[in-house]
Amino acid sequence: MDHFEYRDGELHAESVPLRAIAERFGTPCYIYSRATLERHWWAFDRAFGERPHLVCYAVKANSNLAVLNVLAKLGSGFDIVSVGELERVLAAGGDPAKVVFSGVGKREDELRRALQVGIRCFNVEVPGELDRLDRIAGELGVKAPVSLRVNPDVDAKTHPYISTGLKENKFGIDIDAARDCYRHAAGLPNLAVVGIDCHIGSQLTEVEPFIDALARVLKLAEHLREDGIAIHHLDMGGGLGIRYSDEFPPEPSDYASALSELLAGTDYEILMEPGRAIVGNAGVLLTKVEYLKSNRLKNFAIVDAAMNDLIRPALYDAYQTILPVKPSDTVPAQVYDIVGPVCETGDFLGKERELAIREGDLLAVRSAGAYGSSMGSNYNSRPRPPEVLVDGEQILLVRQRETLADLFRDEILPG
Ligand code: LLP
Repeated sequence: MDHFEYRDGELHAESVPLRAIAERFGTPCYIYSRATLERHWWAFDRAFGERPHLVCYAVKANSNLAVLNVLAKLGSGFDIVSVGELERVLAAGGDPAKVVFSGVGKREDELRRALQVGIRCFNVEVPGELDRLDRIAGELGVKAPVSLRVNPDVDAKTHPYISTGLKENKFGIDIDAARDCYRHAAGLPNLAVVGIDCHIGSQLTEVEPFIDALARVLKLAEHLREDGIAIHHLDMGGGLGIRYSDEFPPEPSDYASALSELLAGTDYEILMEPGRAIVGNAGVLLTKVEYLKSNRLKNFAIVDAAMNDLIRPALYDAYQTILPVKPSDTVPAQVYDIVGPVCETGDFLGKERELAIREGDLLAVRSAGAYGSSMGSNYNSRPRPPEVLVDGEQILLVRQRETLADLFRDEILPG
């Protein structure tokens, strides 16, 4: 459930009409609901009840400092994939002792910085990363806590670009080779083996793949115990899907109870790395209809947001619901492709949507809280939109609209 609803015939974020935000900050604009963010985070946290657990929000889904700060205040951990994300977490007041570091290609400087600030765990994805981490930890005189991200070879049944747990994917270490790799890790003087990690994909709409993955991870933990390697935590990654249109993904509580059944009789701490499920439906992208135009085949609504602001439809052919901010009863509904001004045929936000709209109307693209702004770019020299956090009746600007001067501020004329 989220806090974007119609009240008095107008779409609101919590108690604020989206129209008021457009009047103040213009369009396009991302709008986040604090109550929704908090609600989704608590849903994961509560789902595991008494079992020791840590919700490590996946920063890549939305890395705005305000979002991180809201979650840090709840006691959230964070899953990062770069030193840039680490610095964001620190700047937002996140606790480094609750940070896990995933990613297939961690550079030396990234490992060093993470060791210096004392993160919770390195999710190692490449055997060579163990030796690199051991050397740097030795130089710094610290012990590096590690888990191996294993690839359990399960089919997440999601879009191939966001499925990561199959043997053919670049992620993780083959689960059959993991035992040897763990033995190697356990023999390195500056590493402390603390966990097992996996992440099988994103936008999963069933619990079975998670259960399959956990069963394989539990078996590995048993084998490691036989080898004298004690595992403290199991990190199940992120990936729980959200409702974009007519999917019915499991609730965090369904997910947790399915996993808890398998975990009965064990005392592993559970870590998880949800991104989309926390922030996806906590945000919309507000945009204005600039023009309506028709040819013999199609009607187009040309809006002022584009693929550079929300690339998911163009990149994955993803469906995102598009709602009129104030549904009109004076114009007839027609079927439109909602397209942006970018010079690419792939620049659409939605296809064949029935809408009763006029030029100048506002539209809200739902589910834009995750992988919206964080995947944004300046393509076609379009300044990045502002980001606004709504908290009850309060409207907080949490990122300013980029200016035209910002666009080429860092560029240098050859002289
Ligand atoms: N942990 C790891 C190691 C990950 O690679 C990811 C996402 C997550 C956690 C968070 O997954 P989530 O709970 O958000 O599904 N840009 C794509 C999604 C890419 C996901 C990449 N990894 C999209 O817009 O659908």
